[in-house]
Amino acid sequence: MLIETNKKPYIILNCAMTLDGKIATKTGSSEISGELDLIRVHELRKEVDAIMVGINTVLVDDPKLTVHKIPANIENNPLRVIIDSKARTPLFSRVLNSDAPTIIAVSQLAHPEKINKLNKKTEVIVCGKKQVDLNLLMDKLALNGVKTLMLEGGSTLNYSMIIANLVSEIRVCIAPIIAGGKESKTLADGEGVQYMKEAVKLKLKKSYNLGEDLILEYQVNTQ
Ligand SMILES: NC(=O)c1ccc[n+]([C@@H]2O[C@H](COP(=O)([O-])OP(=O)(O)OC[C@H]3O[C@@H](n4cnc5c(N)ncnc54)[C@H](OP(=O)(O)O)[C@@H]3O)[C@@H](O)[C@H]2O)c1
Repeated sequence: MLIETNKKPYIILNCAMTLDGKIATKTGSSEISGELDLIRVHELRKEVDAIMVGINTVLVDDPKLTVHKIPANIENNPLRVIIDSKARTPLFSRVLNSDAPTIIAVSQLAHPEKINKLNKKTEVIVCGKKQVDLNLLMDKLALNGVKTLMLEGGSTLNYSMIIANLVSEIRVCIAPIIAGGKESKTLADGEGVQYMKEAVKLKLKKSYNLGEDLILEYQVNTQ
C-alpha cells in the first residue's frame, strides 16, 4: 500500500545496482538484477500512477516503461513521464508507443519545431527555462491526478530529484556483482554535495533477499 498525499506526488526512486553502486557501465549496459527483481519492479509499476525517466535513459535503453513481466492489461500501464529539456526524444522511441499515455516535459530551450513534431504523437509540457523545473512539473502532475510516481533513473535525474527533496522513498536492488569503472553510472551522479554532512539522510525501513539479490527500502529525510 503506497502512501498518497494531496500535494506533490509521493515519489519512489527504484533502481538496480551492483555492489559497487553502478547502475550502468560506460557502454550503457544495465542488465543487473535477476528475474525475481524484474517481477518486483513490474509489480511496483502496476501500483503507481506514473513512471518517470530522464532523456538519456530513453536514448540509451529505449525502454517501454510498461507492465509486461507480470499478468496485466493495458489499463495497468502507468502514465510515462520523460524529462527532456531540448525535446530530443526520438519520434519512434518505444515510450511513444500506444501502450500507455506519455508526457514529455521540455524546457523553454526546446525548439518549437521539435515540440510540434512530438506533440503530434503525445502530450508535451513546457516547464522551466533551461532544464526541466522538476518542482513545478511535480505540481502539474499532481494537478493532473498523479498521486504516486516511480522514478526509474538514470543517475543524473535521480540526483536532481533527491537533492530537490522530491523523493520520499528509495528502493534498491543490489546484485552480487562488481562492475567498477569511474565512467560507470551510479545511483546518483549529478554535481554531488561538497561535504558528507550535506549528504541526504535515509532511514532503512526494510531489507530482504530476492534470489541472489538484496532489496533495501529506505525512507528519505526522516529525522
Ligand atoms: N540500473 C537501473 O536501475 C537503471 C535505471 C535507469 C537508467 N539506468 C541507466 O542510466 C543511464 C542514464 O543515466 P544518465 O545519468 O546518463 O541520464 P538520465 O538521468 O536518464 O537523463 C539525464 C538528462 O535529463 C535531462 N534533464 C532535464 N532536466 C533535468 C533536471 N532538472 N535534472 C536532471 N536532468 C534533467 C538532461 O538532459 P537535457 O538537458 O537534454 O534535457 C540530463 O542530461 C543509462 O545508461 C541507463 O541504462 C539504469
